[in-house]
Amino acid sequence: MKEQRPEADQYGFVKTLNNQGFMTEYLDSFSAAFTQFAAIAPGPSLDIGAAYGVATIEALKAGATVIANDSDERHLEILKSSAYATSGELVRSRLILKPGSFPDDLEFKEGELGAVLACRVFHFFDGPTIEKGIAKVHKWLAKGGRFFLVGETPYVGGVQKFVPRYEERSRNGDSWPGFIEDFQSLDPIRGKDLPKQMHLLDEHVLRRAFEAAGFKVLEASKFPRPQFPPNLRLDGRESVGIIGVKQ
Ligand SMILES: C[S@@+](CC[C@H](N)C(=O)[O-])C[C@H]1O[C@@H](n2cnc3c(N)ncnc32)[C@H](O)[C@@H]1O
Repeated sequence: MKEQRPEADQYGFVKTLNNQGFMTEYLDSFSAAFTQFAAIAPGPSLDIGAAYGVATIEALKAGATVIANDSDERHLEILKSSAYATSGELVRSRLILKPGSFPDDLEFKEGELGAVLACRVFHFFDGPTIEKGIAKVHKWLAKGGRFFLVGETPYVGGVQKFVPRYEERSRNGDSWPGFIEDFQSLDPIRGKDLPKQMHLLDEHVLRRAFEAAGFKVLEASKFPRPQFPPNLRLDGRESVGIIGVKQ
């Protein structure tokens, strides 16, 4: 039987089918910037960890060609049905489904893509995988192409116990101060819907990794999540976004 998209909760969170957290039903400002840029990008766009397609569908509506990627093919089938239902014929030729686990399962030609989004998926990767992933995206982008990345920071609600450790690691110059080996022991309730390891990110580590891969950083900052449920909000620094351009 075909899987159905779960209902969103009152905060617009839609559970993934594979315990990889939630898709939000709305776009943050960095993902919204991706959907606008995708329509004028110097090549097709890639949405990494697209889930049910909140960003993919907006980019398609804006006129972009979008390659929707997810490690769970069921998410992409639901994405396709929603895209066809909301936009019809217009999008069919511009939506490409690409199941597989980023970065290892995905390959594109050098300079083939115009824009890439990775929204709330890099926090499943350890440091070396983040570096490898950013380097691959840099290679795949055409000159002038942009990479938009969004993640949760250590100041997302529910992990206050971790903040002193993160801040101490940052002060000591740790390359990946937000890496959490055992998320379930830190947050047993939310940990049930998430993988064992989590990587909370900030603009400093992302900027360093983007620049090391060759990107010029256009913007990198924390931002608030007023729509998140109260237990995930803290002080307006819950998420982080970065935009890099290939020169
Ligand atoms: C937390 S959801 C985020 C969904 C959406 N991008 C958003 O911002 O709301 C993470 C999604 O990434 C997918 N995912 C996890 N690891 C992945 C990987 N290595 N490669 C591709 N997709 C992955 C999951 O299946 C899930 O659909």
